[in-house]
Amino acid sequence: MRNRRTMVTASVSAALALSLAACGQNSTGGSKEEQKGGKGATIGIAMPTKSSERWIADGDNMAAQFQKLGYKTDLQYGDDDVDRQVSQIENMITKGADVLVVAAIDGRALSDVLRQAGERGIEVISYDRLILGSDNVDYYASFDNEKVGELQAGYIVEKLGLKDGSAEGPFNIELFAGSPDDNNTRFFFEGAWKVLKPYIDKKQLVVRSGQTRLEQITTLRWDGGTAQKRMDDLLTGSYSSDTVDAVLSPYDGISIGILSALKSDGYGTKAKPYPVVTGQDAEVASVKSIIAGQQTQTVYKDTRALAKQAVQMADAVLNDKKPEVNDTTTYNNERKVVPSFLLDPVSVDKSNYKKILVDSGYIKASDL
Ligand code: GAL
Repeated sequence: MRNRRTMVTASVSAALALSLAACGQNSTGGSKEEQKGGKGATIGIAMPTKSSERWIADGDNMAAQFQKLGYKTDLQYGDDDVDRQVSQIENMITKGADVLVVAAIDGRALSDVLRQAGERGIEVISYDRLILGSDNVDYYASFDNEKVGELQAGYIVEKLGLKDGSAEGPFNIELFAGSPDDNNTRFFFEGAWKVLKPYIDKKQLVVRSGQTRLEQITTLRWDGGTAQKRMDDLLTGSYSSDTVDAVLSPYDGISIGILSALKSDGYGTKAKPYPVVTGQDAEVASVKSIIAGQQTQTVYKDTRALAKQAVQMADAVLNDKKPEVNDTTTYNNERKVVPSFLLDPVSVDKSNYKKILVDSGYIKASDL
């Protein structure tokens, strides 16, 4: 009975939403025209997962900034479940969102739902991860993703002494990449590969597993457990009589998994020190690990600034202004080049984390 009533209520409100939409209004009240320019307009914010603290901060920062400007927000997390994210976005559209800000779980899974958004004139901002294969992506806010990979690989060759020639090698290195359905994965890896390849060609860096192609080294959904399992296998398969000197890791959650495998294999002693392990996102667990001398480096991307950029884009769109962009060539989503605003990533290690992360207020000293 209760269920039936809920269903009836739901379908009545859906019908109401539809009829309001049909006469140019939405369920949050006021016509679309009246709502342009801010007050009352609703922003649908679709984030991929709560399993990483950065996305929680991204979502919270955007919601707070939008609300400050007088917008309503509908913030949803997809729990890394592609179908769930699609239905969340569908719901936002039905409920009358005026702009969507989306960080996709699977960059290719949103074409159908975004077509519905396009048909209703809802503009879409792709957040940090580029949405692929859809015409209905209007703007992209992210970081210079290729530079992220360059910073990680650059850190490795510098730390090993290859860059300034103070060491010759050969050093053993293993490579990890992010989720194959995230467009950023390719950019991170291409940036890193550009830096590493000359040393691999000269055999100053050796990938003993032989796994150097992107499709051999990806980590579905950026999952730390998956990375740990792969690192276990690599250590067993290729390092029974040798040690690994560096691991290219694209993301802190993956780095933590890699470090667990290394610890179980006896790394972390004077005789068998940890390899250089990179990362990304400056998550608290990884910064603590850096301070403890385990993970070596991370790439800091100020998600507060990214949220601000996306908010400015949405606000401009709703005020019939052109959002500020600084790149109109790099990000082709296979349908068009999406005008982008790219922020600058910063390499962080033990020597500068205080200045970059704590002094800027990104992480509280007490959390470390
Ligand atoms: C990427 C993002 C990275 C990291 C990763 C895993 O798309 O650019 O900063 O957060 O997802 O969440």
